Amino acid sequence: MRYKNLVLAGMATAFLAISCATPSNDIDRKVDELLSKMTLEEKIGQMNQRSGGAELCDEIAAGQIGSILNCVDPNQINAIQKVAVEHSRLGIPVLVGRDVIHGFNTIFPIPLGLASTFDPALVEKGARIAAEEATANGVRWTFSPMLDIARDSRWGRVAEGSGEDVYLDCQMGVAMVKGYQGEDPADPTSLAACIKHFVGYGAAEGGRDYNSVMISERSLRNTYFPAFKACVDAGALTLMTSFNEIDGIPSTGNKWLLDDILRKEWGFEGMVVTDWNSSGEMIAHGFASDLKHASEISVNAGVDMDMESHGFARHLAELVKEGRVREADIDNAVRNILKLKFKLGLFDNPYVDAEAAASASYKAEALAAAKQSALESAILIKNDNNTLPLVKAKTILVTGPLADAPYEQMGTWAFDGQKEHTVTPLVSLKEQYNVIYEPGLAYSRDLNTSNLSKVKAAASRADAIVVIVGEEAILSGEAHSLSNINLVGAQSQLIATAKSTGKPVVVVVMAGRELTIGRDLPNCDAMLYCFHPGTMGGEAIADLISGKANPSGKLPMTMLVDAGQAPFYYNHNNGGRPNNGTETLLMDIPIEAGQTSLGCSSYYLDSGYGPLLPFGYGLSYTEFQYSNITISSSEYSEKDTIKVEYDLTNTGSKEGTEIAMLFVHDKVGSVVRPVKELKRFERVTLQPSETKHCEFTLPVSELAFYNIDMKKVVEPGEFELWVAGDSASGEAIPFCVK
Ligand code: BGC
Repeated sequence: MRYKNLVLAGMATAFLAISCATPSNDIDRKVDELLSKMTLEEKIGQMNQRSGGAELCDEIAAGQIGSILNCVDPNQINAIQKVAVEHSRLGIPVLVGRDVIHGFNTIFPIPLGLASTFDPALVEKGARIAAEEATANGVRWTFSPMLDIARDSRWGRVAEGSGEDVYLDCQMGVAMVKGYQGEDPADPTSLAACIKHFVGYGAAEGGRDYNSVMISERSLRNTYFPAFKACVDAGALTLMTSFNEIDGIPSTGNKWLLDDILRKEWGFEGMVVTDWNSSGEMIAHGFASDLKHASEISVNAGVDMDMESHGFARHLAELVKEGRVREADIDNAVRNILKLKFKLGLFDNPYVDAEAAASASYKAEALAAAKQSALESAILIKNDNNTLPLVKAKTILVTGPLADAPYEQMGTWAFDGQKEHTVTPLVSLKEQYNVIYEPGLAYSRDLNTSNLSKVKAAASRADAIVVIVGEEAILSGEAHSLSNINLVGAQSQLIATAKSTGKPVVVVVMAGRELTIGRDLPNCDAMLYCFHPGTMGGEAIADLISGKANPSGKLPMTMLVDAGQAPFYYNHNNGGRPNNGTETLLMDIPIEAGQTSLGCSSYYLDSGYGPLLPFGYGLSYTEFQYSNITISSSEYSEKDTIKVEYDLTNTGSKEGTEIAMLFVHDKVGSVVRPVKELKRFERVTLQPSETKHCEFTLPVSELAFYNIDMKKVVEPGEFELWVAGDSASGEAIPFCVK
């Protein structure tokens, strides 16, 4: 550990306030020049990413590590960079990565919550703030956005993505890439994005993390690829492979994916990193015999950098000597890595102003954006008799294990969020009401009901009860799948206890996924679904409860009656026996009932044919009416643009924001098409009684899909479209493409 003392002593660093990056046309030349000086071992060193900090300095000085992850101490990062730049033979700076998933220090709502805002501009702003905070600390690369389409809430990582819809996923992904990377990668506040996990990881069978995936090429192209392609087009600098295999081929060893599709078809010029040891995991998959074989497969498939399997560092030199890996392929990988380091301006200045780092976080602007995101992500699920907002109540009983849980409300992947900065609903509600606080349960999984009687007793002194329930952060995220997605612990009993008092019951859910809350709905007068709302969640929730703000979020996934319905998503393919509710047998079938053709359609005997709530669902404290929906023509050619106009009226008495959506259905295709697909959305804010004339424009070319010949085409024929507030509403308007 030659350099350890140096690092621990907090070396003086050569911080330069201004970083001026190498002009991009110079980068290729500089990369080639540097590459020509590198030994094979130094090249392989660049391809090696390790988790850690100062303890890696000897290897960094020896040119054996190109990137690190999980070090966020700016002093330590400066010291590491100094070792790399001044003590390694070629002085190549280190690329520092971190999972900055929904904020760095200031934590925004989990990505699924961000998706429920349907507000890409706000999401972009949040990503920019995350980038400013992270880069101030020396981190220049985030492993985000996660673009995995997820249609099964049992999967714990559903929290990290944008849910079930392709178009929404594209919009949110691109917004994050733009926000992280900013205008110019060389700007010291630019954080390289890493689009992940390529590909299909969210389709794990049964929602069980790391499980097998079966996706046809056509549905890869129509459903799972588009967000990756959109982010590649938006300039995402890096991409991460996924843990899963598809049709027997692990992504990290899939040349078709990494080379044919990503490089050749899409023209991706960035850098490809494995997921954590996903190269090594090909051994457990039974796809590689040992780590050397796994490394050979990974590089030959198109991987540039190995995250933590150690296989490249240990075996690549030998593999080159044996002719199993070509040095030309190593050169290409290193080119991609060095190019990124040049683009980020790291060769000009890899240091940060460590003194100033702390003051870059939790700025007023960051807190305001985090609060706005939490406000917009909240979804009003139920509001009987206008229970919300609680305008008349003066004294409220606040109960529930998530009411004052600053750590839990940050959600999964909030490594750098500090709970001391979190504002909980309890704290904020106290600023607006007389609050009686009786938690009832200590944490979400708590089964001890002995304190519920205290909740009941306290209710007599309150005008209304706010029950804040959900999931602790650890119940969602990586490796945290659930087979049962009801409220855990005795939380349903807590809600029922509140209901038994006869006082108005407002339930707030903070969770990492859409839970099956159907059985709890009868016991609440109003329900606000907030996902894990992050640092400023408390202020947002208090404002929504008191009516200072009006909910506008919409469900980014179909909400299920029961986990057994999963995967259940609105944009499924047309089936041969769809159920429209007229032929449904339920469980009250007579004993020894004869075989009947009644009920031979697609539904469940126990949970029926529909979900609990459709994609896009979300109420407001006011009401909206769509009218005068017109389409510019009934017939289009492929080059045309469809214009759909509509009037949106706020028919209630409060200002509110509606998210209007445009869905399309291609009625007959050379392959079976989805029943509906979201193509556009728009947030429209209206004063009471105000009407706005709005329009969507949609180029006909966006109706293209991968057809029977695996060609992306618009197939002429009949279509229909809807303008509505969710995927289950509105009247179909026909049109055709000639
Ligand atoms: C996750 C990635 C993450 C990486 C680095 C893996 O376990 O799957 O999403 O970026 O770890 O922390």
